[in-house]
Amino acid sequence: MIEQVKNKIKEAIKNNYSIEEVILQDAKKDTADLAIPLFGYAKELNLKMPEIFEQLKTIIEKLPEVAEVTFLNGFLNINLEREVLTKNLLIEIFNLKNEYGTKKSNNETVVMDYSSPNIAKNFSVGHLRSTMIGNSLKLIYQKNGYKVVGINYLGDWGTQFGKMIVAYKKWGSKEEVLKNPINELQRLYVLFHEKAKDDETLEDEARHAFLMLEQGNEEMLELWRWFKDESLKEFTVMYDLLGVSFDSYAGESFYNDKMDAVVKELEDKNLVKLSDGALIVDLDETMPPALIKRSDGGTLYMTRDIAALLYRYHTYHFSKIIYIVGNEQKLHFQQLSKVAQKMGYDFDITHVNFGLVLLDGKKLSTRSGAFAKLSDVMTQAISDAKNAITEKNPSLENKDEVAHAVGVGAVIFNDLKNERHLDMEFNLANMLKFEGQTGPYLQYSGVRIHSILKNQEINTAEIDSSVYNQDHYFELLKLVAQFPLTIERAMQNNAPNVISRYLLSLCQGFNQFYAKQRVIVPEEGIKQANLLLVNAVLTIIEEGLRLLGMKALKEM
Ligand code: ARG
Repeated sequence: MIEQVKNKIKEAIKNNYSIEEVILQDAKKDTADLAIPLFGYAKELNLKMPEIFEQLKTIIEKLPEVAEVTFLNGFLNINLEREVLTKNLLIEIFNLKNEYGTKKSNNETVVMDYSSPNIAKNFSVGHLRSTMIGNSLKLIYQKNGYKVVGINYLGDWGTQFGKMIVAYKKWGSKEEVLKNPINELQRLYVLFHEKAKDDETLEDEARHAFLMLEQGNEEMLELWRWFKDESLKEFTVMYDLLGVSFDSYAGESFYNDKMDAVVKELEDKNLVKLSDGALIVDLDETMPPALIKRSDGGTLYMTRDIAALLYRYHTYHFSKIIYIVGNEQKLHFQQLSKVAQKMGYDFDITHVNFGLVLLDGKKLSTRSGAFAKLSDVMTQAISDAKNAITEKNPSLENKDEVAHAVGVGAVIFNDLKNERHLDMEFNLANMLKFEGQTGPYLQYSGVRIHSILKNQEINTAEIDSSVYNQDHYFELLKLVAQFPLTIERAMQNNAPNVISRYLLSLCQGFNQFYAKQRVIVPEEGIKQANLLLVNAVLTIIEEGLRLLGMKALKEM
């Protein structure tokens, strides 16, 4: 809303002067709402400051949203019609509820590739980050009017399955796998590599097994399917905990029969060449060639990604495709984009990358004991949250439900609060604190507001809007007004943390307001005005949390 007013002022000035950009800033506290530094204008237009002030004043004053224009220390200061602006916006939010900031459908589709763990391997912290960032981006794009297709591109194909099958047949047993599927399969995989050091024939056996799998050998397929089903069961535990779902689970194996067509298209377009028996696509000087087919005829991660990209394009007609994958695959996606470009497609391919997870400052690997099973870590977060809640509010009724929302929310917020390309620290105790930059802090702010509004009826006809002229009201209103733009910026930068940061300042802003102002006051008109403002803050906190993939609470 304030942005709209700013734009109107800028437009009005531009209509009268030929200037590239109008500088319009927030005024210093206690002087005005907005300010224009006049020094530059005076110089550019070769006029004295008071003269240019008079000219601009005439133009700006005509706008209905502007209350007063004054001259002070070289600045043109603008006071807005706070009362009307505030009242209109707050009533709008009251009516729109969680639809505040929602954009109309634009009939465009975005495909998002996220989570995408490798079967028969542990769900890594990297996959967890991808899942949480991807889920939030999906919600953010939807809010901005896009249709989103969320794809879990399972890593369920590749030579490693040849190794796993060989290892299972030699050293594994059904009982052991059933006891703890992923750990056992991972153990067999590691064992394979150890034994292969002394036994060269193993690698050949594995290659052969994968070839048979690729060609549809029923015995191989059955084992592979079983590994996949067992892995998915474990992954699903994680997705259920997080409350995340996907529109498609078409993983790498789905493209097994779609690869020949890709190779053919590349050949028809004269893009491939042989190099040491392998098929490659030369890209440019800045990056190594893309490997399409190995000398033994096997396809690669890159081949499958090209096939998936084209299939998705023809199936979903997306205007944009986003891959949410760690920093370490940067080159892979640069190559993928380049290949698509060379093939003559002008897709908007975006690699949304992110940093590592650090535990006490050290890089985490999937194998490090502390994270052997991520769902255990989540379960731990939930039980720690339950302890904290029980201590704070022993009589709370639905403790388990609340603990789930707080524990999981804490982990999500810890991930989404900082710029995603940075490494992040994973410390359960810190992220579960009720103060500071945490998920529980946001949820708790919502709960506090909820209890203020409880049993109160809002009646927009009874508002005494004159209170909105006061600075502490307008400060909070300005934050409230920023929500729509915040959602847009979060999308443009593919950055959920834009919303996280905004929610933190909104809650801080609310707390400052609340320290100065009682909400439930005897004067009905003022109380109504207060309720309306506080209601808007709550609406935004709830919707903002939802966009991050978190749950808002009524009590905790
Ligand atoms: N499964 C891959 C891995 O864990 C991530 C897949 C990312 N998506 C893609 N289209 N390449 O490294």
